[in-house]
Amino acid sequence: MSAMTLQQFLSREVQFGAMDPKLPPVILSITDACKTISHKVRQGALAGVLGMAGTENVQGEDQKKLDVISNDIFVEALCASGQVCGLASEEVPEVISVPADYPIGPYLVAFDPLDGSSNIDINVSIGSIFSITTAVRPKREAVEADFLQPGNRQVCAGYVMYGPQTQLVFTLGKGVLMFTLDPNTGTFVLVQENLRVPAEAKEFAINCSNMRHWEAPVKRYIDELLAGETGPRAKNYNMRWVAAMVAEVHRILQRGGIFMYPRDNRDPKKAGKLRLLYEANPMAFLMENAGGRATNGHMRILDIEPESVHQRVAVFLGASEEVDTVTGYHAQ
Ligand code: AHG
Ligand code: MN
Ligand code: MN
Repeated sequence: MSAMTLQQFLSREVQFGAMDPKLPPVILSITDACKTISHKVRQGALAGVLGMAGTENVQGEDQKKLDVISNDIFVEALCASGQVCGLASEEVPEVISVPADYPIGPYLVAFDPLDGSSNIDINVSIGSIFSITTAVRPKREAVEADFLQPGNRQVCAGYVMYGPQTQLVFTLGKGVLMFTLDPNTGTFVLVQENLRVPAEAKEFAINCSNMRHWEAPVKRYIDELLAGETGPRAKNYNMRWVAAMVAEVHRILQRGGIFMYPRDNRDPKKAGKLRLLYEANPMAFLMENAGGRATNGHMRILDIEPESVHQRVAVFLGASEEVDTVTGYHAQ
C-alpha cells in the first residue's frame, strides 16, 4: 500500500504535466472543507450541528443545520482558492459568485455539500459530492448558463464519505482513486488506485417503498431480480439501501451492484429525485472511470445537456451488465 498523500499525488501530476497547476488548489480547498465537515460530523451534538435549520432549500426540502453549515464551509473554502469563477450548490437557489475581494479563476464547481441528510441525526454514513468543470468564459463571473455543460466535460469529480472512516474518492477522467483521512495527521493518504466496479453484480439498491409508483421497465427489472434463482436472471440478489447516494456508490465501487433512483408516477413533472449537476454527473463520471455505467434509463447521464442548475434526473448506475439490462427494458 502506498503512503502517498493527496498533496504529494497532486504535485506529482502537475510535475508530470498531467494536470493544470490551477486545479490542485480547487481540489485541496474542497478536501479541506470536507476535513472541517468531517470534524463537525464526528462531534455531532457536542458541536451543536444536529437537528433542523428551520429553512427550506430551492427544491422545497427542509434543511438540516449540517446542510447549511457544510454549504457555508464549501463556499468559503472554494472562494478562497482563488481558482473558481462561480459555484452551484444544492442548498443555494442561484449560482454563487465569488466575492469581489477574491481573485477569479478558471473553474466552476457544483456540489452537494451534505448528501444523505436524513442520516445525520442518527449517526449513519453521509458525504459531500463535487463536480469540477472548466468555465467556457474563464475569468468572468459565472452565470447559470456557464454551468449547463454536459457531464462529459467534467475535469474532476468525486465525493468524501463520512463513515466509520472519512474517505475521499475521485477521478480526473483516468481511473478512480481512494484516499483515507488519517485522523492523527489530518492528511488524506492514498489507499487504492484504479478502483474497478466488479463485473458481476450480487446486490441492488433502490427504495422499494416507491414500488407502486414505478414505471413498467423498472418494475419488470426489479421483479426479475427478486425472482432469484428460479427467475429469468437465474441467481439470487441481495438488497441494500443506506439512503445516502455517496454510501451506495462507495459500496458499488468496491463490492459491485447497481443503484437506482428512477423517475416515477408520483409527480410526472419530476424527472427523478436526484440532481443532475451535483449528484448524478459526478457519480456517473466515477462509475464510468471505474468500468461501470450510468444512464437515466434512456441515455448516458454524461451526455445529457443540462437545462437548469437544479434539474433532476433518473439514475441507474453500477455494473455495466445490470445497467445495460434495465436501460434496455426502457427501450422496449
Ligand atoms: P440529499 O440528502 O442531498 O437531499 O440527498 C439524499 C438523496 C440520496 O443521497 C439518497 O440516495 C436519496 O436521497 C434517499 O432517498 P429516500 O429518502 O427516498 O430513501
Ligand atoms: Mn444528495
Ligand atoms: Mn444534500
